[in-house]
Amino acid sequence: MKKNPADAVSTGKAKTSAKYKRARVRHFLFTVGPNRLSGGRVMRRHLSQNVVVKHIETSSPQWPKAFDGLRIGHVSDFHLGELLPLDRAIEVIRQLGDQRPDLIACTGDVVDLRHDHAAPLLEAMAGLKAPLGAALVLGNHDELHCADTVSRLALNAGVKVLRNDVLEVHHHGNRLTIAGIHWAKSIRACARHIDETCGEGVDLLLSHNPKAFHGAIDRNIPLTLSGHTHGGQIAMKNRPNTNIALAHRHRAGLFSQGHSRLYVTSGVGAWFPLRINCPAEIAMITMRHDDGSRPSHESPAPAGGNGKRPT
Ligand SMILES: [Fe+2]
Repeated sequence: MKKNPADAVSTGKAKTSAKYKRARVRHFLFTVGPNRLSGGRVMRRHLSQNVVVKHIETSSPQWPKAFDGLRIGHVSDFHLGELLPLDRAIEVIRQLGDQRPDLIACTGDVVDLRHDHAAPLLEAMAGLKAPLGAALVLGNHDELHCADTVSRLALNAGVKVLRNDVLEVHHHGNRLTIAGIHWAKSIRACARHIDETCGEGVDLLLSHNPKAFHGAIDRNIPLTLSGHTHGGQIAMKNRPNTNIALAHRHRAGLFSQGHSRLYVTSGVGAWFPLRINCPAEIAMITMRHDDGSRPSHESPAPAGGNGKRPT
């Protein structure tokens, strides 16, 4: 495993860092305060909303033929805590299990402010026993309290944690190469992590920040999965990428450039208790090898998906 300086900044007494304190203030202003003023109505309404399963199918000539039809259960941004209590998070994992994914990819922000209760969630994720396992990259919120603790809890549970690291999974003698990078804020910093982590032949890149897509395009990586934006949580009706996550170009949904594809999930949890035209989601992604016989542009798969399990 390649070690990165980011490890150093994401560990230690992060609990008292300025970032952690700012996050607590934000949590008070956008969640605790409005909820108290509304007599608890804001939170009750938020917690009554369902998490939807979204089916997406896409393809790339770069995707290995042996994994044509791989079904990836992509979850992100649980923000486990007040906005997503453990019992609801476990229910989401059960929903994910019902889809029988071949591989589970979690793109970070497992926790919101503290890592309490992360262990049962991560154990439930690993407990689904997806044939190709479960892999996780950490997000900026995972780093607020103690990234090393979240990482250790995941590893203990049986979830592979990719911190500027590459994982090879094998199925019937075929190899799928998955890279996962550290949280980074800018396109340039994401690209630096990709350069430090990815050699040739990465099939799947996991990055909390979708800004990694630029680096993935440069390396012809066929599929990148990201979260972080939450789809803005407030979006235009039927236009998921038109939302308030203005700091991002790729805010929600599926994107394509050259042979590279990006899916940005709207996430499972929230950082403030409101979602408009942007439901919390589990993304079931069917990834296909494009041998030239498919239409040039991908489209969402019909509900229920039509992917076959990898051969
Ligand atoms: Fe998040």
